[in-house]
Amino acid sequence: MPVNRREFLSLAIAGSAVALMPRASRAADTRIDVLLDEPIGPIAPNLYGHFVEHLGGVVYDGIWVGEGSKIPNANGIRQAIIDHMRRLPPAVIRWPGGCFADSYDWRDGVGPRSARATRTNFWVNDMTSRPDGPATYDPNRFGTNEFVRFCRLAGGEPYLAANVRSLPARDFYQWVEYCNSPAGSTTLAELRAAGGDREPFRVRYWGVGNESWGCGGNFTPEEYATEYRRFTAWLPRYGVDLALIGSGPNAGDLAWTRRFFTSMAERGEGRLAGLWGWALHHYSWNVSRGATTDWNAGKGDAVAFTPDEWYELLNEADRMEGLITGHWAVMGEADRRRRVKLVVDEWGAWYRPGTEVAPTHLFGQQSTMRDALLAALTLDTFHRHAEKVAMANVAQLINCLHSLFLAHEDRFVATPTFHVFEMYGGHVGGQSVRAAFSAPRVSYDRVNGKGALWGLAGSASVKGRTLTLTAVNPAIAEPRETEIAVRGASIVNARATTIAATDIHAHNTFDRPDAVRPREDRVDSPRGGVLTYRFPPASVTRVTLDLA
Ligand code: AHR
Repeated sequence: MPVNRREFLSLAIAGSAVALMPRASRAADTRIDVLLDEPIGPIAPNLYGHFVEHLGGVVYDGIWVGEGSKIPNANGIRQAIIDHMRRLPPAVIRWPGGCFADSYDWRDGVGPRSARATRTNFWVNDMTSRPDGPATYDPNRFGTNEFVRFCRLAGGEPYLAANVRSLPARDFYQWVEYCNSPAGSTTLAELRAAGGDREPFRVRYWGVGNESWGCGGNFTPEEYATEYRRFTAWLPRYGVDLALIGSGPNAGDLAWTRRFFTSMAERGEGRLAGLWGWALHHYSWNVSRGATTDWNAGKGDAVAFTPDEWYELLNEADRMEGLITGHWAVMGEADRRRRVKLVVDEWGAWYRPGTEVAPTHLFGQQSTMRDALLAALTLDTFHRHAEKVAMANVAQLINCLHSLFLAHEDRFVATPTFHVFEMYGGHVGGQSVRAAFSAPRVSYDRVNGKGALWGLAGSASVKGRTLTLTAVNPAIAEPRETEIAVRGASIVNARATTIAATDIHAHNTFDRPDAVRPREDRVDSPRGGVLTYRFPPASVTRVTLDLA
């Protein structure tokens, strides 16, 4: 579906008010103009954060294999996951939930491991048709010390979610004391030391509840604001600049954001000063293309999907942009000094059951090329809003929804999403700059008419004289012949890495771990400072450009 020249120019100009550079190739129907002089904000490593919940096979089987295990491990933690995480940007890891967090008593997971209590897991009711195991009755072998050790081994930083629904505020500030009080200073510091960690963990990031509009207590926004104030009115700091994260909205629920912020600001706008982040959750799940909004009926299979479901899911993920700008605008009504940032601490694809690698892996699902594109377009969205989004956590790390890894017993594999995280890591620490993409849109069938999605989208960041440009081509069959120009510099050299499979259903398995992986792609020399590159169909690409 080519665009004519007039439409092409109007698209580019509407998007950017850019003075277009001369065209280098007549075949190109797509253009990217990178605007070095329009900085957005630094790309924080925490946009590449993770999420680990005591749910299905995430902790037990996925991460924790135990110190006596034949599976290679460090302090009981699966070595393969440590090694792979080390290849990613060093980011926060959120734990222990999710909904589980509001049923979790951190005291159950400290002290001698053999003496720890076994508790009924929050998710027990969803596990009824699954074999019993640590996912149903949690033995608490993996507690605070083990989690912080995992973070350190993996190169990450802990982000703990406190229980607001079923424990008093005292347990929250004592958990902070357990983690952060100086060596030898308190009884809880001694307990931490008995668990092997004399020095304080200095945990900075703390979530105050999770989904408090639902599993976290069924609060109204005003009730939650009261709880939030009570839980945070006093916390011991021990010299740590605590970053408190409030339980924000379910996807597009602007009323939750508005009513919470209004309620907080009624006590003076200064009340918002202590709130570091506002958590937004958005899952992409409904592939019914307009047939239903039912949570179960709307879901599709992780692997066996139609081309229309491919596009529909990507469109669902693309809602992230509107969610960020929508909630950000509402937050600004009360937070005029823009003290509070967005934290998208749960995002990803959610399919119906059936592709999990082991029966105990509740919400476990395979991850295909579609998930690679979903991850990439979401990370690009975060980059484009780097001044608003301070942290994001893909849900969840292993053996669950949109996972980077799948593991069962001694088998382990990295998914296409892992490769996207690794490829995109080059952005971290760079300055996000505006990039205007203009490309023919792609269309597909919905139940009552057509759906449409952009033809190429992405993000750009600059570090010194190196530009990192990432882009997603969602079209299943069409490559995108693209001219790339940089306003304020000319391109000297370029290298491209791409993940593209001829089959949109391609995925990695224990037996074929490299079915999907990135490859280096040929790039022509730039002409007149402009580069022409062909983005393959159904692909995620990183182009690294040396600038003069
Ligand atoms: O990620 C799975 C669940 O989804 C989390 O526990 C909850 O916060 C969300 O509803």
